Amino acid sequence: MSFELAPLPYALDALEPYLDARTMEFHYGKHHQTYLNNLNAALEKHPELFKLSIEKLLSDLNAIPEDIRMAVKNNGGGYFHHNVYWATMSPKGGGEAKGKLADAINKTFGSFAAFKQEIEKAALGRFGSGWAWLSKKADGSLLVHSTPNQDSPVSDGLYPLVGVDIWEHAYYLKYQNRRAEFVQNWWNVVDWAAVEDRFVEGQIK
Ligand SMILES: [Fe+2]
Repeated sequence: MSFELAPLPYALDALEPYLDARTMEFHYGKHHQTYLNNLNAALEKHPELFKLSIEKLLSDLNAIPEDIRMAVKNNGGGYFHHNVYWATMSPKGGGEAKGKLADAINKTFGSFAAFKQEIEKAALGRFGSGWAWLSKKADGSLLVHSTPNQDSPVSDGLYPLVGVDIWEHAYYLKYQNRRAEFVQNWWNVVDWAAVEDRFVEGQIK
């Protein structure tokens, strides 16, 4: 049973004008699909690993046979991170976190505005490709951090709640080199209800 590309939960143009349809078409249809294809191709060499979840595979890379470890790290990370990315955006997104997630954000960062600044600092401070994340630590507390390439928070024992993709493929067609402008616009499509569900229920399993 190989891994599959979940359908996008909205149309390709649903996140316009913040994320344009052409970028979505390539990002979901080509980049995400390619990570998935390469992950499945690697796992075909050790098909017993198909019974593990993608989070589980990434959470203990040392347990992955060495001949496919790098492929699983890079393509498994790319596959998993884009699953999280699509699932935590919505055409009805934007605004601020509510409920238990808002309480945790305020407790950790002081305010929602201060939290946003931390994410933006992580996103703009990442040289080259990667992600800026809000993740949950094993003790349930929150952390803003950045990972390079497709290195996964779960490989560091962190559960990613929401992340902004700062690979150029995520924004170059519309924003060219203007990463800061892209991140500013991304806030308008974050689905805080979905992020709160991940905060309350999410775990590596
Ligand atoms: Fe991406």
